[in-house]
Amino acid sequence: MAVRIGGLALKNPVMTASGTFGYAREFESLVDLNRLGAIIVKGLALKPVKGNPPPRIVETACGMLNAIGLENVGIEAFETDKMPFLRTLQPPIIANIYGTMIEEYAALAERIDAIEGVAAIEVNISCPNVKAGGVVFGVDPFAAERVVKAVREKTRKTLIVKLSPNVTDVTVIARSAEAAGADALSLINTITGMAIDIEARRPRLANITGGLSGPAIKPVALRMVWQVARTARVPVIGIGGIMRPDDAIEFFIAGAMAVQIGTANFVNPRTTLDVIAGIERYLERHGIKDIADLVGTLETG
Ligand SMILES: Cc1cc2nc3c(=O)[nH]c(=O)nc-3n(C[C@H](O)[C@H](O)[C@H](O)COP(=O)(O)O)c2cc1C
Repeated sequence: MAVRIGGLALKNPVMTASGTFGYAREFESLVDLNRLGAIIVKGLALKPVKGNPPPRIVETACGMLNAIGLENVGIEAFETDKMPFLRTLQPPIIANIYGTMIEEYAALAERIDAIEGVAAIEVNISCPNVKAGGVVFGVDPFAAERVVKAVREKTRKTLIVKLSPNVTDVTVIARSAEAAGADALSLINTITGMAIDIEARRPRLANITGGLSGPAIKPVALRMVWQVARTARVPVIGIGGIMRPDDAIEFFIAGAMAVQIGTANFVNPRTTLDVIAGIERYLERHGIKDIADLVGTLETG
């Protein structure tokens, strides 16, 4: 079950997805945290962010829409309040970061590079680029390349770039991120959507639009992971709608070296552990000794 992602050695390929597992302590009484492959914390910014006004979450058919607005404690409080607990855990800790300008991403990377106990940085490039007038880094290959380069210059920790699905061709952005120095690519983030209250004729989310996650997005995520894994030279981490072991196994066959579990944590906080156990059973049943032998084995001929 052990896999390598850049400089990270994981005892199994199952991680928690950013924003769905808090800073891990929230799940301490529910999940044996030391059994996880890695823990990815809520997206961090330079300063604390309160996020959007409620309602920020709406349940949809086979999924949910969220417009949390990247609420987080900020890098300072992360280091002083959250890291002491996180350092006591065995799995590698991955800091997810976002900014509104390239300089912000670079400053965050520099700060995190100096934090002992953070093994890797996952860069969320699906946020508005204020300086470029509302363009999103993750949908523009040149902006993506610039932001990843800026982060790469500031850190020697493993660098994972998290890709947005809200693009025409995800492989173009993947190539830019890889060229700029990403050690791994994770995908997908949420798909932009909306829901309307037909009696009030108002959006159900105060932010009007939000990000769709959960089982509804799995087929899209699987397709994008397959497309990226075919061309990327760095490891790909699959995310999107994983609820059961079989969902994760589909991602491995499509080419993912590891997976992240998000929305499922809200339904059953122990999903990660159930998925780990189910993958083990599958490998045993098929006589596969190393999970790497399953990765990218999709037969299309
Ligand atoms: C409530 C919520 C908050 C999220 N916050 C973040 C975040 O801070 N940074 C990030 O990169 N992704 C964030 N995501 C996206 C998830 O990490 C994941 O990419 C997405 O939900 C798809 O996986 P899933 O279907 O397993 O949930 C968030 C998702 C949800 C549902």
